[in-house]
Amino acid sequence: MSWRGKNLMGLAAFVVVSGLALVFAPSVFAAETDLGPLPALKVDEKKAELGKLLFFDKRLSGDAARACNECHDPKKGYGDGRALSEGYPGTLHWRNAQTLLNAAHQKDLHWPGSQGDLDTSIRTHVTGWILMNDDGRALEERMILVPEYRNRFKDVYKINRHPMFGQIMGALSEFVKTLTSDPKKVPFDRYLGGDQSALTPQQVKGLELFKGKANCVACHNGPLLSDKGYHNTGVPTNPELKTNPQVQIAARLENMTIGVSGYDTITEDYGRYMYTKNKQDMKKFRTPSLREAKYTAPYMHNGTIATLEDVVEFYNAGGGNDANKDAVLKPLGLTTEEKAALVAFLNSLSSDTSPHADAQPAKYGEEGYPYQVLKINDGKPWTKKDPRP
Ligand code: HEC
Ligand code: HEC
Repeated sequence: MSWRGKNLMGLAAFVVVSGLALVFAPSVFAAETDLGPLPALKVDEKKAELGKLLFFDKRLSGDAARACNECHDPKKGYGDGRALSEGYPGTLHWRNAQTLLNAAHQKDLHWPGSQGDLDTSIRTHVTGWILMNDDGRALEERMILVPEYRNRFKDVYKINRHPMFGQIMGALSEFVKTLTSDPKKVPFDRYLGGDQSALTPQQVKGLELFKGKANCVACHNGPLLSDKGYHNTGVPTNPELKTNPQVQIAARLENMTIGVSGYDTITEDYGRYMYTKNKQDMKKFRTPSLREAKYTAPYMHNGTIATLEDVVEFYNAGGGNDANKDAVLKPLGLTTEEKAALVAFLNSLSSDTSPHADAQPAKYGEEGYPYQVLKINDGKPWTKKDPRP
């Protein structure tokens, strides 16, 4: 335990003895030790390395023209820097391409928590019409004719057959699990570890506001700075959803597919409600992590807030306007100095430099790994047991 942790224990023991524990101790603990650092995830390195190759391979999309990294760009904090994501050619998405940094620590995935795990999230990407529009069987056939992949899948999954769709998804998930923050590189985590100089006095003031007057900690808590729950903060609709027919088409298709009634008249993003059909979930979205937010602008599910300064202004005004807005959100009355301190603290939750920004597969080049036509079963007699190369 860090000296800071010990100090807090000491403080708690003192207040228990002095009879003030119930008033005091819980907020002291929620304050700091609960906020970080993130626990390390178990990763299968070989599988992740294979996933990394796939992540940068355009053959994952139907037209073999767009890889994961084009919407989740390592140099743009694993987002794409746009308010709304560009979908598959001929389509436009109605939501922002989320960062993948620390996504593996979340419980449910996507802005409204519509996908239960990484494999499922990635499957909906690869086969969904709006994002990559590929076909699972076609993708397997593509993998079979790339010797590098055949060998790597054999090696990772100990199989003597062609790569299967589920294994392709599994390898991509494993790569996403590597995209986490290193506590040694995050000022706030170093501060929690006992290095008091890791935060400036202004950032320490921001931390106090975060836990206190601004009450961000009501939703942004735990090591991820997310309660992994869903809230309506009244983020305004992105006007594109009302005015751009291609954005409308994508949103209508999704609403229709999952059975939202009146899908053809919807001009707002109903968020979690679309998936639960529970009125209380209207326009609720998953609380995002605040880690690495320095590198992931613009913000919110539809990219309508450009900077962290603007986000703080948004909350200072009590959030946006919506009938279902969370009752926790109230005008905060922060002074100019307090707003600046809060922004400074938010920046301390991001690594010193954008993490994993230089990621690229070991042998990645213009061509990637080329296809190669196989001699059927290497010219050997066909056997029932192992019919595929
Ligand atoms: C055309 C753009 C595009 C491409 C290509 C793309 N994504 Fe996404 N990704 C998005 C968008 C948009 C979202 C948010 C979707 C939503 O909330 O409905 C997202 C969300 C995610 C999430 C959820 C993150 C979280 O915090 O919940 C994961 C994981 C993910 N993408 C992984 C991938 C992988 C792996 C690939 C390649 C197989 C990929 N994406 C390719 C646009 C894209
Ligand atoms: C009632 C719960 C709640 C409270 C309180 C709250 N947030 Fe949020 N926060 C959310 C939700 C939910 C979102 C996502 C909203 C969306 O996408 O429409 C969000 C989004 C954000 C984002 C954008 C992150 C991204 O990746 O796009 C930032 C930054 C942020 N909040 C900071 C703060 C700060 C600072 C405070 C305190 C002043 C605060 N939040 C208070 C629930 C909350």
